[in-house]
Amino acid sequence: MNPLLKVEELNKHFPLTPPQNVFKRWARLNHQTSYLHAVDNVSFTLNKGESLGLVGESGCGKSTLVRLLTRLLDPSGGRILFNDRHIGEVQAKEFALHPERAKIQQVFQDPTDSLNPRFTAFECIADPLKRLEKLNGLALQNRVEGIATQVSLPLTLLERYPHQLSGGQKLRVGIARGIALQPDLLILDEPTSALDVSVQAVILKLLDKLRCELGLSYLFVSHDLNVVRLLCDRVMVMYLGKIVEIGPVEEIFQRPRHPYTKALIAAVSHFDAGGPVQRVRLQGELSSPVDPDPHACRFYGRCPVRENRCLKQMPELEETGIHRSACLLSQSG
Ligand SMILES: Nc1ncnc2c1ncn2[C@@H]1O[C@H](COP(=O)(O)OP(=O)(O)O)[C@@H](O)[C@H]1O
Ligand code: SF4
Ligand SMILES: [Mg+2]
Repeated sequence: MNPLLKVEELNKHFPLTPPQNVFKRWARLNHQTSYLHAVDNVSFTLNKGESLGLVGESGCGKSTLVRLLTRLLDPSGGRILFNDRHIGEVQAKEFALHPERAKIQQVFQDPTDSLNPRFTAFECIADPLKRLEKLNGLALQNRVEGIATQVSLPLTLLERYPHQLSGGQKLRVGIARGIALQPDLLILDEPTSALDVSVQAVILKLLDKLRCELGLSYLFVSHDLNVVRLLCDRVMVMYLGKIVEIGPVEEIFQRPRHPYTKALIAAVSHFDAGGPVQRVRLQGELSSPVDPDPHACRFYGRCPVRENRCLKQMPELEETGIHRSACLLSQSG
């Protein structure tokens, strides 16, 4: 195993100013600040050439984790090592000038928001090459056209503006921009969630091909386990800021251990068996991410197999093994 990215005990706790904090009015009276634990003590490794999936429901902290890794946000604690360099220690506003900056690229959730509406597709792809590799003229044109061909974007579309492109074409421009600087790691935050199923399948094939051709590593974020299954070697499951299960994707599908992962897979299996896509239905009360009880399992309120001890001991991910989970029951079983 050859680690490209090592994340150790990473945290992002957003301080809540009293007017926003409707959950904890008493805090205002006591002049205490409350914190929303968006990413809480997260540790994992991503190996060179690997595609690692990150799944979890909306609001569980996926995009915050991505913004920490791409250094758009400063962590509240913990370490991020990329190519053995401590990039978490570099201030977010200084990371643009860091030598590792070009090696971590992101494809955003909504290409409409991430592409400059005043740039043509050519200019969107050319922009990082002009700024960071100082390319211009014919060399720039050849490079942009080469990248467009790699992502199967017809060259005739390069003069179009984002609003003149379809969703799939805009995403190809976003992917082209992401690979332009020949990164080691491409982070894809729900890239296909806005596309219809047939376009999504074509884009997933393209991403798989690019990974082999360019030797890329992926962190692929999705709320859809089926999509992750198609593209990823391993998967991490996130719940309210914490990684609750991690392992090889087929192993997780065949033998999920955490009750939350089991619920996600049950919804997917129903779809595979010919039924309609089901929303993950969990009974009970969703815990608040604001000042969560450090001694209780975050999933307690919705867990179908909870026990009293789950309120007294926060389960952490098992320390070793290729398939690890954070549930007191699966660990003692
Ligand atoms: N800048 C911020 N300030 C305060 N809370 C935030 C901020 N960004 C995200 N959050 C909160 O952090 C949690 C995780 O959000 P996010 O990372 O966007 O989740 P996901 O991508 O899984 O939907 C949510 O409760 C969200 O409201
Ligand atoms: S630790 Fe307890 S509450 Fe948490 S997931 Fe496991 S059984 Fe459920
Ligand atoms: Mg998100």
